[in-house]
Amino acid sequence: MSKKANSFQTPIGTRDIQADAAARRRALSGIFAEEADLAGYGELETPIFEDIGVFQRIGEGTDVVRKEMYEFTDKGDRRMALRPEGTAAVCRSFVQQRPTTPWKVWYQGPFFRYEAPQAGRYRQFEQIGTEVLGSADADVDVEVIALASRVISRVGLSRVLLVINSIGEPEDRRNYVEVLSEYLGGRIGDLDPADRDKVATHPLRVLDSKKAATRSVVDGAPVITDFLSAESRAHFDRVQEGLGALGIPFAIEPRLVRGLDYYSGTTFEFQASALEAAQNTICGGGRYNGLVEQLGGPPTPGIGFAMGVDRLLLACDAEGTFPAPNRNVDVWVVDVTDGASARDLTHLLRASGISADRSFDSRSMRSQMKAADRSGAALAVIIGDQELADDMVAIRRLREISDQILVPRSEMVDRVRSMLPEPT
Ligand code: HAM
Repeated sequence: MSKKANSFQTPIGTRDIQADAAARRRALSGIFAEEADLAGYGELETPIFEDIGVFQRIGEGTDVVRKEMYEFTDKGDRRMALRPEGTAAVCRSFVQQRPTTPWKVWYQGPFFRYEAPQAGRYRQFEQIGTEVLGSADADVDVEVIALASRVISRVGLSRVLLVINSIGEPEDRRNYVEVLSEYLGGRIGDLDPADRDKVATHPLRVLDSKKAATRSVVDGAPVITDFLSAESRAHFDRVQEGLGALGIPFAIEPRLVRGLDYYSGTTFEFQASALEAAQNTICGGGRYNGLVEQLGGPPTPGIGFAMGVDRLLLACDAEGTFPAPNRNVDVWVVDVTDGASARDLTHLLRASGISADRSFDSRSMRSQMKAADRSGAALAVIIGDQELADDMVAIRRLREISDQILVPRSEMVDRVRSMLPEPT
């Protein structure tokens, strides 16, 4: 079928988020905001685009920077990028604003990566995340993980595994990478061909390969947790003790390295077993004690996470939890005179906090009642010639069989309110 001229589609990897899905996202964001408020986090909005240099600090070797960044030159000849993630932008903001520490922020919004789209992987996707800057205390790690865990349980997800690791400070990692490279170098022929180049350029990234051949080599590889300094070890122990004390189940996964270069110390992911392994991480995060300095600020420890909203909601679908909230209006106003009553009464109801809608274009009684039924409203307020002449309205329950009642127009709001169920 040939495409009509001037008929456009959403760009590859993007979607229109329609009313039910949007209402669900709003509900999730409301839950997140409540939990963030309870824990003393303030919302931060950073721009959708930044100087490309901000995001280059994520790591020149990462796919996110090397292959997936939406970059452009603006009309002032500046190199810019659409934000692929939030952490670097929050650190940029910290360096620019110099807030008092610990600085506890949360953020939400669209992010952009030029990826091969599939279920749970899009070019424009939504994240909600937090960052805490200015404290190296292991209890911050626990607080941040606990916040994510609260949100995940509040949406009703139960088949989710929290995996944690410590990738140590840069020095621990250097020692480990040396031993790891040697091990992988010795087994290079057994690795999946797609992973062989990484041994020289980015041996840690081999650890999170999904290829079967590579996985069996990786299973026997030395683990980073054996290379931690006493300080990193103590920090990681304290994180585990804290999670235990709060009753948050977790598993230690020494091969969890994550896809961004700025991490040090604790890393973690929440993985939904209801989703395909390649896209089952619904939330990922960790410490990044060097990033603020790389962005021109003072040495400042940091930790945070981002939830992939699209993926988290897919996991909710798979577990049959967190349905879209009911968007039905309470009242449908049916006006078979000239529509002026519908205009005025919907306005009055809405101003009184009662949701109301109506038909337009002078439809017949039959067509308006059909629309009222379809809308899912609990009540219809009906105005015919007689009601108009008598300054009355008729009120009818739409979802049960009952007589309609006639009330003076001036009493409509009170009567409607008394007939609606209590808001939950
Ligand atoms: P990330 O692992 O790159 O980490 O992304 C976090 C989450 O965003 C992923 O676990 C996934 O759920 C979701 N996500 C990522 N890419 C896509 C995509 N193309 N389509 C749909 N969902 C996606 C970060 O972004 C770090 N900034 C997290 C962090 C915060 N670390 C410390 N603080």
